[in-house]
Amino acid sequence: MERNLALDLVRVTEAAAIASARTMGKGNSHLSDQEAVTAMRRAFDAMEIHGTVRIGEGERDEAPMLFIGEEVGRRTEGDPRMDLALDPLEGTSLCAYGRPGALAVIAMAPEGGFLHAPDIYMNKIAVGPAGRGVVDIKLSATENLQRLAEVKKVTVKDLTAIVLDRPRHEALIREIRDAGARVRLITDGDVHAAIATCKEDTGIDILFGIGGAPEGVLAAAALRCMRGEIQGQLQFANDDQRARARRLMGEDDIDRVLGLDDLASGDVLFAATGVTTGELLKGVRFVSGGCMTHSLVMRSRSGTVRVIEAQHDFERKPSYTSEGLLAE
Ligand code: FBP
Repeated sequence: MERNLALDLVRVTEAAAIASARTMGKGNSHLSDQEAVTAMRRAFDAMEIHGTVRIGEGERDEAPMLFIGEEVGRRTEGDPRMDLALDPLEGTSLCAYGRPGALAVIAMAPEGGFLHAPDIYMNKIAVGPAGRGVVDIKLSATENLQRLAEVKKVTVKDLTAIVLDRPRHEALIREIRDAGARVRLITDGDVHAAIATCKEDTGIDILFGIGGAPEGVLAAAALRCMRGEIQGQLQFANDDQRARARRLMGEDDIDRVLGLDDLASGDVLFAATGVTTGELLKGVRFVSGGCMTHSLVMRSRSGTVRVIEAQHDFERKPSYTSEGLLAE
């Protein structure tokens, strides 16, 4: 895969982050998402790829742009065929209410690299490099905490688990507390939370709980680059969801535990730009005549993690302003 594509990819997440950041705190999740989607879709046109969205905004009949199966990129002869997993705004309400941790995210891999996950829930466990090969989603949270504490040479009470604050996690949270670990509850954004387990300075050791399946694929792409681990299991609410999963996943066993390589495989590129400031990335900061963005770009083959601070000049690049978007 072309190395320069990594920089192209970050241009796309930057565009989505800048557009959605303008709506921060307006209390309108739909608007925040729409701005991110429109900007991301437009930014893809400049990318020299023949891309197909595998994880996107939804199925064709429910999403006008960046729907599953949509072809994006320049798409001229010779452009590499790539599969894309994306979320123009991961944590729409984090942005709409100005809370920490909203991101614009894309992962890219050669064709076949991502699980064609339906937009349903997935139970997940994610850890950083120390927990690779150690945790097992089939075990209880208590056992996983004990195993992780042992390899990290700490006690369970030194570990911090991150969990989405949802009523469905009541028993899980009680169990983690009873096991003695510290708990970090978040309102949204479990891609961000999964990545945080791979960065020691976040103090987050393990992610538990049920979130979106598409977010599981995105987190897997990031964790492959960072040598972390994620396991997931699809959660079906009804037969319709089962049928949808079968349609997207073909012959695959839809009930099995999905490992890192089942979720994201091959030479994966991952880019994320902060929309609102969080554990990993600063949000978009608007200054006179432009703005600053903070992004993460990673590649699984090399394991290189790049952090990019960019300064954008709206005078020379008006497409980043909402006026520019409207004028184009
Ligand atoms: P959106 O960006 O689509 O709002 O998703 C945010 C999120 O918190 C994800 O990070 C998480 O996987 C999912 O929603 C959890 O779903 P729910 O809000 O239904 O519990």
